[in-house]
Amino acid sequence: MSVLNVSGKSAIALLITMAAVDRFNLLYREISRSCSVYIEALAIVGAWYTVRKCLTLVFNTYSMIRLHALPKLVGEIDIVKRYGRWAVVTGSTDGIGKAYAEELAKRGVNIILISRSKEKLEAVSRSISETYKVETDFIVADFSKGREAYQAIKEGLKDREIGILVNNVGLFYTYPDYFTNLSEDMLWDMINVNIASANMMVHIVLPGMVEKRKGAIVNVSSASCCQPTPMLTIYGASKAYLDYFSRALYYEYASKGIFVQSLTPFVIATKMVSCSRVTSKRSFFFPSAEEYASHAISTLGLSKRTPGYWKHSIEFTLGERLPEWIWAWFAQYFCRIIRKEALTHKAK
Ligand SMILES: NC(=O)c1ccc[n+]([C@@H]2O[C@H](COP(=O)([O-])OP(=O)(O)OC[C@H]3O[C@@H](n4cnc5c(N)ncnc54)[C@H](OP(=O)(O)O)[C@@H]3O)[C@@H](O)[C@H]2O)c1
Repeated sequence: MSVLNVSGKSAIALLITMAAVDRFNLLYREISRSCSVYIEALAIVGAWYTVRKCLTLVFNTYSMIRLHALPKLVGEIDIVKRYGRWAVVTGSTDGIGKAYAEELAKRGVNIILISRSKEKLEAVSRSISETYKVETDFIVADFSKGREAYQAIKEGLKDREIGILVNNVGLFYTYPDYFTNLSEDMLWDMINVNIASANMMVHIVLPGMVEKRKGAIVNVSSASCCQPTPMLTIYGASKAYLDYFSRALYYEYASKGIFVQSLTPFVIATKMVSCSRVTSKRSFFFPSAEEYASHAISTLGLSKRTPGYWKHSIEFTLGERLPEWIWAWFAQYFCRIIRKEALTHKAK
C-alpha cells in the first residue's frame, strides 16, 4: 500500500513536471515567435545603420581624394581664366594671408594686399611682384577702426575688377581665457576684425563680380567653429558666424557664377598661435602657413566648406562627430594648459 502510495506520488510529480516543461516549451516558443519579429526589425535597423555608415565612409574618402589628391595629379585650374586677374587678400603681410597671396601670384594673379603696417605692405608687395612677375598694390587699413577702414578700402578698390577676395584677416586671443577676463576693446576688435571685415569686404567687391558673372570669395574661418569652444568663446563664435555667412552666401550666389568657400583649418604654425610652444612650431598636424596655403588653394572651386588640408579634414570629421560635451571638455582642458603656460611665461 505504502509502496503504491510512493510510486503514485512520484507519478503525479512526474506528470506535473512534464506539464510544466511542456508549458515552458510552449511559452518559450510563443515568446521567441513574437520576439523574432522584433529581432528582425532590429536587424533591419542595424543593417540600415551599417550601410549608411559605410556609404558615408566611402563618400568621405572619395571627397578627400577628389579634394586633396586629384588636383595634385590632374594639374591646377587656370584661376585667372576662371575667376579674374586681380585678387584682394586681407591680413596679407604675415601668416596664412601672405602665403595665400603668394600661391595666387604663383598662378599669375595680380595681388592687392591689405594690412595695417605700410612698411610690411611695401616689403611684401615688392617681394611678390619681383618673385612671381605679377602686378601688386596695397591698401593700408586697420579693420578694428570700422567704417574708417572701409572708406580707405572703397577708395583703393574703385574701378578695379576684382575676381578673387580672400577674407583672411582675423584676431585671436593673446591666450585662451575666460570671457569676463577679456577687455571691452578686445571684444570690439574681435567683432570688427573677425566679423564686420568679411561682411564689408564682400559688400564692396561682390556687385562687380555679379556683374561679370564670375568670381571667388574665400572666407578663412576656423575649426573652432565646428562645435562650441569654451575659453575661445568669442573667437569660435566669430568663426562660426563666418562659416554660416559663407555657406549661405554660396547658395545665394552660386547660380550667378560666384564661388564662395569657407575654410575651416585647425592649428597652423603662425604668429597668431605663438602663445604656446607646441602650436607655434610646425609639426605633423600643425603645418606652416606656406604648406597650408599650397593645399588650401587647390580646393578652390571644388569644395564650398573644407579645412583645406587633408590632415585637418580628418580631425574636422572626427571633431564634428564627437558629442558636444566631449569636444567642450577637451577644448577646455587644452585651453587651460595653454593659458597656464602663457601666464607662467608672462610672469617671468
Ligand atoms: N594660425 C592658426 O592656427 C589659424 C587656425 C585657424 C584659422 N586661422 C585664421 O586664419 C587667419 C589668419 O591667421 P594667421 O595665423 O595667418 O595670422 P597672423 O600670422 O597673425 O597674421 C595676421 C595678419 O593680419 C594682419 N592684421 C592683423 N590685425 C589687423 C587689423 N586690425 N587690420 C588689418 N590687418 C590686420 C597682420 O598684419 P599687420 O599686423 O601688419 O596689420 C597680418 O598680416 C585668421 O582669420 C585666423 O583666425 C588661423
